[in-house]
Amino acid sequence: MPPFSVTTPIYYVNDVPHIGHAYTTIAADVLARWRRLSGDEVFFLTGTDEHGLKMAQAAEAQGLTPEDWADRTSERFREAWKELRISNDDFIRTTEPRHYRAVQEMLQKVYDGGDIELGTYEGLYCVACEAYYVEDELVPGDAGVSPGTPGNCPIHGRPVQRMREENYFFKLSRYQDRLLEHYDAHPEAVQPETRRNEVLGFIRQGLQDFSISRTSISWGVPIPWDPRHVAYVWFDALINYCTAMGYGSDRERFEHWWPVDYHLVGKDILRFHAVYWPAMLMAAGEAPPKCVFAHGWLLVGGEKMSKTRLNQIAPGDLVTTFGSDGVRYHFLRDQNFGPDGDFSYEAMVARYNADLANNFGNLASRVLNMAVNYLGGVAPAEREDGPLREQSAAALDGLSAGMTKLDFAGGFGAVWELIRSANAYIEDRAPWALQKAGDGAAVAAVLGDCLEVLRLVALLASPIIPDAAGELWRRLGLPGTPEDQRLPAAAAWGSLPAGSALERGPALFPRLEG
Ligand code: MSP
Repeated sequence: MPPFSVTTPIYYVNDVPHIGHAYTTIAADVLARWRRLSGDEVFFLTGTDEHGLKMAQAAEAQGLTPEDWADRTSERFREAWKELRISNDDFIRTTEPRHYRAVQEMLQKVYDGGDIELGTYEGLYCVACEAYYVEDELVPGDAGVSPGTPGNCPIHGRPVQRMREENYFFKLSRYQDRLLEHYDAHPEAVQPETRRNEVLGFIRQGLQDFSISRTSISWGVPIPWDPRHVAYVWFDALINYCTAMGYGSDRERFEHWWPVDYHLVGKDILRFHAVYWPAMLMAAGEAPPKCVFAHGWLLVGGEKMSKTRLNQIAPGDLVTTFGSDGVRYHFLRDQNFGPDGDFSYEAMVARYNADLANNFGNLASRVLNMAVNYLGGVAPAEREDGPLREQSAAALDGLSAGMTKLDFAGGFGAVWELIRSANAYIEDRAPWALQKAGDGAAVAAVLGDCLEVLRLVALLASPIIPDAAGELWRRLGLPGTPEDQRLPAAAAWGSLPAGSALERGPALFPRLEG
């Protein structure tokens, strides 16, 4: 089994989970489920980022220690992911001992190699980003430029602070050529193309050394050779990916999984992942990630969700109405994975009703109903081997092609094309008319094809709507779950055993009123 690994960013615990976090996590989950179905050995990682000034401040505002606060909020992420059927293989917290070991080992390695040096840093710092900015990057805030600062953070619109610290610096400037060579040799290593160009442009402008330690706070991983300092959150956070794969504890395991296949990230943290991180890895003698894939933002009313704008939506609120399948399906089908996409409740209801309640739900209920009514609830041996056979093969091809490019909308679009074709085929062949005419063999053959399509739909849609797919699988009388199957063998046409006991049941996706 080829190893395949995918990660989400680790989420800051100063905030509770919102649908922006869920977006990346669902995408990673669907990819992980797809690769398991395809026969890979998968490692899917998510987790929480728990150090840093922002965290310490959030805890203090609640009258809690950072440890207590981190425990509580990290748990909220775990709960949210459970509710959304996220199938992560590990959940890492940066406050775990295994992570301290990994951070210290990697830092020491880079320090010993001569790429970390002591210096003084003075700069403009955004606490929300945990990052320094240069003056040119700042923007005016809603109320103009805040007094006492030269501008506001381009991501959060909040005033930056002037900070002066003795820091250790990572000599990023030495890595400009090596990074360009790497991206030249591996054009697929940053996707989509627009993001790759952005990264190349940034590297070509010239890279500045960046600070990797702080003395102003103690909530972090101590620098092993100088414990007055703690590691700067980003240097600490990025290493999580290696920690979870065994870095610092199990070299063999690490080498089995590393380099990672996909880091999925939002465009806001692309630079950290596609510039700083590969350079750090090179400095530590490790390979850079195979691919950093940056997606756009989910916008609410045209704006990025944020605590200050009070426009955050909790995934759980949507699950109550749409079910976890409905939420998962919506985010990956309603917008392309790459550009920004606007979220609206109305669009969500419309897509749920059209694709899940109508197309998917109707196909399942009418085929199972007819099979119970006309065939006594037993899968027939007969098949027409009509047009649906070819269309099923096309659905698998389309899904595979989509998933290779992380084009979820296109990939699952191919599966929904098959659903539409099957609904059209039923209209065309009108099994109720064949039944009336007493042509039992034709009814069985037509429904035989339709039941086979239901099996394939349950299989192919299982990465995106695992609950409904599993239930459909069960109603088809099939043993196990779609997750136990392996492609391409499981997609072979005609695999629904004759004699399977079929069951109709309540609507898989009850229609919603707008
Ligand atoms: N802790 C860092 C990441 C460290 S990774 C080594 C961080 N955390 S975060 O909680 O702010 O989460 C950022 C990620 O959440 C984004 O990169 C993106 O993947 C996801 N999203 C947060 N808001 C989002 C939207 N509004 N839309 C889409 N994704 C969003 O940065």
